[in-house]
Amino acid sequence: MNDNDNAFGIRDGEVAIGLPDTFDASLYFIGRIRTPWTKRADCPKNARESDAVCTLEVDPRWAKALTHVESCTHLVVLYWMNRSRRDLGLQVPRHDGIARGTFALRSPARPNPIALSVVRLVGVDGPRLSVIGLDCLDDTPLLDIKPYFASTDAVSDAVVGWHADRKS
Ligand SMILES: C[S@@+](CC[C@H](N)C(=O)[O-])C[C@H]1O[C@@H](n2cnc3c(N)ncnc32)[C@H](O)[C@@H]1O
Repeated sequence: MNDNDNAFGIRDGEVAIGLPDTFDASLYFIGRIRTPWTKRADCPKNARESDAVCTLEVDPRWAKALTHVESCTHLVVLYWMNRSRRDLGLQVPRHDGIARGTFALRSPARPNPIALSVVRLVGVDGPRLSVIGLDCLDDTPLLDIKPYFASTDAVSDAVVGWHADRKS
């Protein structure tokens, strides 16, 4: 794959912010995510846009950490958007055209490019979990897996005001 296929540029109205000189923490990738998509243009824009079965390939060293995961119907998956730029404060989403703050957006471009999706678990084969509900490029690093608790995670009356107020 040509990296330029997935590179983030900067659009009119977007604002880049100087990043700190040093990092505050480090993390472990616990595996990789296998998906059908190798270009951002082909990727679903959010987790509900595709029914494709994707695979969480967990590093076998973490096999014990998967104990009882098979009992979950849905999981929260956290992943590292490794092809994102990390310095945008204001972003202009392509289908919106209005500058919005990074922390008001689900864009992968953010200081810590951590993405999340609630996925449906459809199969477990050792350290390979088959799931539906991802929106990332093939080979995206996997950060964490957590059970989704509808009882505490679902907020049925939540609103994103700017999104609800959009004209189109
Ligand atoms: C809008 S983000 C949403 C991610 C996640 N569902 C969330 O809400 O945090 C999904 C988009 O990120 C982009 N993307 C996917 N994988 C990526 C990666 N490894 N690095 C950078 N961008 C990626 C694609 O353009 C995809 O449509």
